[in-house]
Amino acid sequence: MRTYRLKEVALILAMLLIPTVAGAKDDSPRFEAGDGKFLLNGEPFVVKAAELHYPRIPKEYWEQRIQLCKALGMNTICLYTFWNAHEPKMDQFDFSGQNDIREFIKLCEKNDMKVILRPGPYVCAEWEMGGLPWWLLKKKDIRLREQDPFFMERVDKFQKALAEQVSDLTIANGGPIIMVQVENEYGSYGTDKPYVAEIRDMLRRNFGKDVTRFQCDWSSNYLNNGLDDLIWTMNFGTGANIDQQFASLKEHRPDSPLMCSEFWSGWFDKWGANHETRPAADMIAGIDEMLSKGISFSLYMTHGGTNWGHWAGANSPGFAPDVTSYDYDAPISESGQTTPKYWELRKTLAKYMDGKKQAPVPALIKPIEIKNFDFTEIAPLRDNMPRPKTDENIRTMEEYDQGFGAIYYSTSLPELKSEALLTVNEPHDFAQVFVDGKYIGKLDRRNGEKELTLPPCAKGARLDILVEAMGRINFGRAIKDFKGITGNVTLTVEKDGHKWVDDLRNWKVYNIEDEYDTYASMKYRPITAADRTAGRMPIGAYRATFDIKGKPSDTFLNFETWGKGLVYVNGHPMGRIWEIGPQQTLYMPGCWLKKGKNEIIAFDIVGPREAKSEGLKEPKLDQLQVNKRLTHREEGQNLDLKGEKPVYAGAFKPGNGWQEVRFAPVRGRYICLEATDAIDGKDVAAIAEMYVLNDKGERLSRDPWTVMYADSEDTKDVNRSADKTFDLQESTYWQTAPGAGFPHAVVIDLGAAHSVAGFQYLPRMEAEVPGAVKNFRIFVKDTPFKY
Ligand code: GLA
Repeated sequence: MRTYRLKEVALILAMLLIPTVAGAKDDSPRFEAGDGKFLLNGEPFVVKAAELHYPRIPKEYWEQRIQLCKALGMNTICLYTFWNAHEPKMDQFDFSGQNDIREFIKLCEKNDMKVILRPGPYVCAEWEMGGLPWWLLKKKDIRLREQDPFFMERVDKFQKALAEQVSDLTIANGGPIIMVQVENEYGSYGTDKPYVAEIRDMLRRNFGKDVTRFQCDWSSNYLNNGLDDLIWTMNFGTGANIDQQFASLKEHRPDSPLMCSEFWSGWFDKWGANHETRPAADMIAGIDEMLSKGISFSLYMTHGGTNWGHWAGANSPGFAPDVTSYDYDAPISESGQTTPKYWELRKTLAKYMDGKKQAPVPALIKPIEIKNFDFTEIAPLRDNMPRPKTDENIRTMEEYDQGFGAIYYSTSLPELKSEALLTVNEPHDFAQVFVDGKYIGKLDRRNGEKELTLPPCAKGARLDILVEAMGRINFGRAIKDFKGITGNVTLTVEKDGHKWVDDLRNWKVYNIEDEYDTYASMKYRPITAADRTAGRMPIGAYRATFDIKGKPSDTFLNFETWGKGLVYVNGHPMGRIWEIGPQQTLYMPGCWLKKGKNEIIAFDIVGPREAKSEGLKEPKLDQLQVNKRLTHREEGQNLDLKGEKPVYAGAFKPGNGWQEVRFAPVRGRYICLEATDAIDGKDVAAIAEMYVLNDKGERLSRDPWTVMYADSEDTKDVNRSADKTFDLQESTYWQTAPGAGFPHAVVIDLGAAHSVAGFQYLPRMEAEVPGAVKNFRIFVKDTPFKY
């Protein structure tokens, strides 16, 4: 039986005797928006949240990462839920192991951290399809993130399943969850209040009416979908002008608490682009400023972690697949190490502890080295093909009930007396074409490649197209991202002075689903000298065992000599590799390694140059190996505007935020913005985003846009090329290289001719607005510009 101490008895008696003045509700634990402040149990509370994503961190390390955040001086953990990880197959829910969100939230609670839950259904997050399950695409005409009946029915089922796991952990139920987010940055997707309201109502049903609900968006678009009964918070990155970010909210809701729900500590990396970093000083200054003004924040990411297996997403417009590491240049590195950013942030947060001491920093994991080892066995793909399906017309991966991995399409060619043009509409995402087993070329969706020339061949020659899927797009309208070949395949032959275009039909289709068993069950044989002769070794799965003598610990597996593919260690999906970089090593948590023998399988879809690896103590995340130009100007090319008549000439105003100019409609396909000087009088020009308006004042779709020319782009160690002017991200920008003088110009191909009547421009977000354009001219033409 439990015994009571005197003090406890007195307390219980007091509780029984004192009538509740404010009524039962006010005594229950609660979190709410008060007058300009958040209130926790009636007391002002500034949210200092660290964003962490449980599926991106080995479960064994969850608590240590939470403690690292706590030791910074944070009081809350902010997290998304990843629907596609929890429901990998329709109606098969998984809340175990890495997906045990309840356990993760309980660990936050155990460490006295509050929790902000962001249950989507869409989360963006550089995660495959923004968290939506691929199998939704089996309904080809589905409208994602809209009131499509099937979509809403599935969202409802998932939200209910999730609520069964965690809805008893809200603050009203005595748990740590203080707020729940409704959808995610819907303003970057569309305007649809009824849909957002339906998601809100679902959350109310599942989490109870008392749970505090909020929306997050950008200051430029939050009003489009802002619902009256929700709290509005803003997302913006390190360096942004904070007063300007909240100016509109203060105007529309003077009494609202202020919160930056995603303050971006760094940024994510894409294959074939420079490694992204953001200065620690900017992040610290932003947090210091917010806290000095009592503004709440969530630091996205405080610790990014890893996109294990095939979970990395891709960005659009265009197609820019994300790398496996989600290091994010965050204060806590991908592998849980403290960085200089971490210690500086800890120092700053020490000022805002309300007299309390920061928790101690938990012990860090010491990485180990693993000696160089060779892969000894190979299972060439051509000897390990699964049983094919036959199909008259080509279909997408999803239509064959395949979610991830590669797909191999094979058919016979007619006799080709001369060269013919092969068009693949469209290869998602990386295709290799072979005729009778001979490699013809590749089609990389990142570069919009769709066509290859086939050599003459006899009737019946075999055409093979091997297509590897990368992550589904996680941002913008393009999230409906089918994989494999998404349309048709045609052959264009010239005969008697005419062009004949034929659809290729009667395919054999081989589905190579990305899962451990696919590769593990292949037939392996020892690697021979012949496998090594061609410069590149065969396409296929490679296997090795490596030995760990002492206690296993974290390491970074080096794949610098490999081509492109996926790696498994002891059955754990470690992630994608690609020689173009910038990521060259994979984070290997020690908790998934064993003392003694460990198995590693790498499936390389282009073939390694050398099949070997080693464990390093430090990652290599910034080694870009592309030969492709990152800029949009040929050697010696100079835009010639002599004789061209501008459709508009004027000057932009100083300051942050969007600006717009209108002019008499002109028809044209090519638009040039020429900047003749900058507001700060310096040499550099920068543009964060721009739109072109039609004669009805509407924004033209930027999906078909391509950059034809930019006189200067800073791509030395950063990603500031001119395509950043329409990448949908207000925090990334085109910026000219230091030292390149004015005038600066960018030329865009709009994809088709339009009646053009206006231009919108967004400068950089920092208070000093670096590179803000002053005088400018706009040219619109139906024919390309001269160079
Ligand atoms: C937005 C999204 C996040 C993430 C960041 C960029 O703010 O809400 O999920 O994609 O951008 O990292």
